[in-house]
Amino acid sequence: MKPGQIFLSDYKAPTYQILSTELTFNIENDVCRVLQKSSYKSIYSNSPPHALFLDGSESLILESIKLNGIELSASAYRVAPEGLTLAAPPAEFNIEITTLLGPHTNSSLEGLYAANNGQMLCTQCEAQGFRKITYFLDRPDVMTIFTVHIQADKKKYPTLLSNGNLTQSKLLDNGRLQVTWHDPHKKPCYLFALVAGDLGLLKDEFKTLSGAKVSLEIYSAHGTQARCHHAMESLKKSMAWDEQRFGREYDLSTYMIVAADDFNAGAMENKGLNIFNSRLVFADSATATDVDYFNIEGVIAHEYFHNWTGNRVTLRDWFHLSLKEGLTVFRDQEFSMDMSSREMVRIDSVADLRSRQFAEDAGPNAHPIRPESCFAVDNFFTSTIYEKGSEVIRMMQTMVGRPGFRKGMDLYFSRHDGQAVVIEDFAKAIADANNQNWEQFKLWYSQAGTPQIKVQESYSDNDQSYTVEIEQSCPPTPNQTTKKPFHIPLVIGLLDERGVELEFTHPQVAVNSEGQKLIHLKEQKQSYIFKNLKSRPHLSINRQFSAPITVNFERSLAEHIFMLRHDTDSFNRWEASQVIMAEQFKVLLKDTANKIDKRYLEALGELVTNTDLPEDFRAALLTLPDNEYLSQSLAMIDGPSLHNARSNFQKQIAQALEVSLISLYKQFHGINTQSKSAKDFGRRRLKNLALRYLCHIETHLPLAVQQQQNAANMTDEVAALSILVDQPKELRSTAIHGFYERWKNESLVLNKWFQTQALSTSTETFATVVELMKHPDFNIKNPNRVYAVLLRFGENLVRFHDEKNPTYKFMADQIIAIDKINPQVATRVAGAFDTWQKLAPDQKKKAHVELQRMAQSGLSKNTYEIVSKQLAAELP
Ligand code: ARG
Ligand code: ZN
Repeated sequence: MKPGQIFLSDYKAPTYQILSTELTFNIENDVCRVLQKSSYKSIYSNSPPHALFLDGSESLILESIKLNGIELSASAYRVAPEGLTLAAPPAEFNIEITTLLGPHTNSSLEGLYAANNGQMLCTQCEAQGFRKITYFLDRPDVMTIFTVHIQADKKKYPTLLSNGNLTQSKLLDNGRLQVTWHDPHKKPCYLFALVAGDLGLLKDEFKTLSGAKVSLEIYSAHGTQARCHHAMESLKKSMAWDEQRFGREYDLSTYMIVAADDFNAGAMENKGLNIFNSRLVFADSATATDVDYFNIEGVIAHEYFHNWTGNRVTLRDWFHLSLKEGLTVFRDQEFSMDMSSREMVRIDSVADLRSRQFAEDAGPNAHPIRPESCFAVDNFFTSTIYEKGSEVIRMMQTMVGRPGFRKGMDLYFSRHDGQAVVIEDFAKAIADANNQNWEQFKLWYSQAGTPQIKVQESYSDNDQSYTVEIEQSCPPTPNQTTKKPFHIPLVIGLLDERGVELEFTHPQVAVNSEGQKLIHLKEQKQSYIFKNLKSRPHLSINRQFSAPITVNFERSLAEHIFMLRHDTDSFNRWEASQVIMAEQFKVLLKDTANKIDKRYLEALGELVTNTDLPEDFRAALLTLPDNEYLSQSLAMIDGPSLHNARSNFQKQIAQALEVSLISLYKQFHGINTQSKSAKDFGRRRLKNLALRYLCHIETHLPLAVQQQQNAANMTDEVAALSILVDQPKELRSTAIHGFYERWKNESLVLNKWFQTQALSTSTETFATVVELMKHPDFNIKNPNRVYAVLLRFGENLVRFHDEKNPTYKFMADQIIAIDKINPQVATRVAGAFDTWQKLAPDQKKKAHVELQRMAQSGLSKNTYEIVSKQLAAELP
């Protein structure tokens, strides 16, 4: 055990509960004084007095502490950087604590901090920010009723918000405004929120299923209200969807959202008062892309859905974070699927899972969705906890069917409303409602790593039988060298020789309420024999990506192309195209003189012009997997050769499909430029992808130049810019300059400008990134800017791993500097080194030097945890 490490197995129930908490925030010019009055009650009725530790933080200045109305003597308590110990408090007591905070110097953006150039104060308490506000039992299994008074100068802060209902608002003689908020729902302090500012308001209303009126309020800087309509519409859709799909209604009379320009994450589900990164609130045609529109809808839904999955039913401890995050991601994905196209949303979320979560599962920071230890709780906000957590819940839904899953959810809420529970409680509710035994299935919670299956098939003409053999394995991950077999639900189907779906029944194949055929792989190796098949069938396996695994099924190119053309499962058609592209990519990686197989190019050409297929689906078929995903199956990462193979691949496709790509571009460019329909999103996606391919042929580059100059929406403008930044100097700098001149006053658009340059494959990129850090519009304290430049550059495998530049030293310098300002942001940027073990020997050495230097530089425990795991990882 290392100092500071905490373990799931050490969990102990709290010895005290807090019956109620009253907070008074007195906001002055530079400081904020917080008076906390809480009443505590021991959970033991007659145990001798024992010490009680209240969480706090170094930044707190303790001004006064009273117990039952009497100022505590120095011997009755002790203050340390991590908190305050009451020596021997009685079994029941009232405590009054006054602390002094400096929100304007709090650059960590957790606790109470200043955002929007100091114009607004807001909070971020998840996971452990509340202890930067006052001494408290800062743990999710301590829930209490909060009453909050806020007092501030009315001119500077006319908007004063907290959770729940506004019960009082009065103007004091001295020009100060005092408001009182009361939240009738018990909650852990990580869901506490406060906002003080001078904000504009967009208001609307929602009537719940049972007839209650809810006032919907989006607060943001004055003048930005016109950009909040999409968020508002998304909120109303989310509220209606949760009623229909899960029977869940909202439970307060007001639902507030506040947009903050400085925010570490995407958004936060504080009870009744969500705080959002403004990039996930603001949208209009001029400044937001189609993807922004989609993401805003999804995150608004995500935070709204937390009201039941997270707030009403919360966590016992942070090791169970996936209880709410996995489940809420599942719910927001289902919502997005219902709002647009189920198949496309599924394809996009799987592509994202494989690029980011599979990489995490194969790297130094691999962890189970219910981790067993950690240094910094904030490091749990990973794609494993979120996206893989969601996949595990999706498997449950697949196994019990949608109606069964709904029954299980109802049971979960009726059993656990108002409680702080663990992941097993959720699995048990779904299993109990459906008479399932999920002992083995629960290994998904405790075992890290991406399981793989190897599929082998054989057909015997003699007895017309078809045998499928499936073998599972899971690579070792840190601290878990061997794994037990998983329970893997696989949706399957068989196609006949014309590609027609075969109807069959089989004792080992279950059918769920959606009519999906399901096999439960539980053994390490299992065989399935299908009899009376007149010819060899074509197997479609892991349809809809029913399990988050890697499928290893060695098939001929002709067989993959057959599935690409005929599978009745749209996901697996896309999957066939991904498998083929990955294989062909490897061929080109070996030697750039190699050619993509003609049979595939022919099939692809037919499919992308097949008007029976939706445009977005055609775009997905035409999309080469990203470098993150492709490099997972490579032994070594070499940036420039990835780049060469990739451009070669795209050029060959462009040449082979040139005529079709031009006609697709012409067909869909310039039509319905303002439309926000899923159909038009899909058309733009397809034609902008066509443009990207075409620009690998020099003569088509003017199309991108014209598109940038005449763009009628941000989707087209960024698409063109991202093509042009990869071009030689002249085109590149004209594009960058033109974009800047047009958008220099739009902060959110400038993020795109920074990010597009950081992601460029140009050999100039490193020099550009260095310059961008000195740009007057760069601000090292603003997370969106840092992510746009440094997180993106770290993801740019081609140029981050280009041996010609001292990229690792540069990145380590930035991480060390940012860690002093904001550890959570530095931690995320440090992810750039996750793949260092897969670099070429020289590069690896350089990265190793930087990792050691970072580890010895006095990092925060957040960043230290990540860097030390990177150093410790011994990849094969
Ligand atoms: N609970 C928030 C959400 O999913 C995320 C908060 C992020 N917090 C953090 N420490 N990174 O929606
Ligand atoms: Zn969440």
